[in-house]
Amino acid sequence: MPPGDASESGPRGHITQVQGTKVHGEQELTFGSPNVSDGPALWDLAKAAGNLDVNSRYSYLLWCRDFADTSVIARDPSGSIAGFLTGYRRPSAPDVFFTWQVAVAPDHRRRGLARRMLDYVVDTLRPKGVRFVESTVTPDNKASQRLFESFAEANGANLTLDVLFSEQELGTGHEPEVLHRIGPLPGRSAHSGPSPD
Ligand SMILES: CC(C)(COP(=O)(O)OP(=O)(O)OC[C@H]1O[C@@H](n2cnc3c(N)ncnc32)[C@H](O)[C@@H]1OP(=O)(O)O)[C@@H](O)C(=O)NCCC(=O)NCCS
Repeated sequence: MPPGDASESGPRGHITQVQGTKVHGEQELTFGSPNVSDGPALWDLAKAAGNLDVNSRYSYLLWCRDFADTSVIARDPSGSIAGFLTGYRRPSAPDVFFTWQVAVAPDHRRRGLARRMLDYVVDTLRPKGVRFVESTVTPDNKASQRLFESFAEANGANLTLDVLFSEQELGTGHEPEVLHRIGPLPGRSAHSGPSPD
């Protein structure tokens, strides 16, 4: 594949300082959209995280170019990536946000970072009509299962499970990928406080 425009000269993703990110002594983290130049670091974290199907470095570069608006990275004060969440709106069902991959660096786990990244992306998409969140999780991934259960509970939304891709389809001893579908979501975020009216 040609290098295309996967250069550092492309437009920077917006960076948003999220309020209230200091939890349990956690360093202040900054949330923002990834840029193409973040692709290699996402690939590195995907490899280090464990439990993820690691895709080619090319795919992370492309993802950061074409799906930055529906993805987020969290950086620590040194600029290192503490976590990322990538996803997209399904072309045939744009009210569905599909979470492709989520990874949190081992030092930052169990502090609510994955939940906050999911909240962050979904909150930007609710005003655009997103009402459902989907992801696939393998049966052995308790942390990921709990992440989506926790998100459904916080939003008072239904969570349904159904095998999307079987072991036969995935091959090479891969566990089935179970579709977790959450929704419909309320129009307002569960953590945005009471309505002004
Ligand atoms: C899955 C992963 C992203 C969770 O990140 P995290 O920041 O530690 O998760 P959070 O702290 O936001 O926790 C979310 C919920 O899951 C629970 N949880 C997190 N890790 C858990 C674990 N190992 N076992 C059980 N529950 C767990 C939390 O208690 C929380 O539930 P709660 O809201 O009821 O308290 C992280 O473990 C990871 O990067 N794993 C490797 C990659 C992976 O498996 N990604 C998912 C598949 S795409």
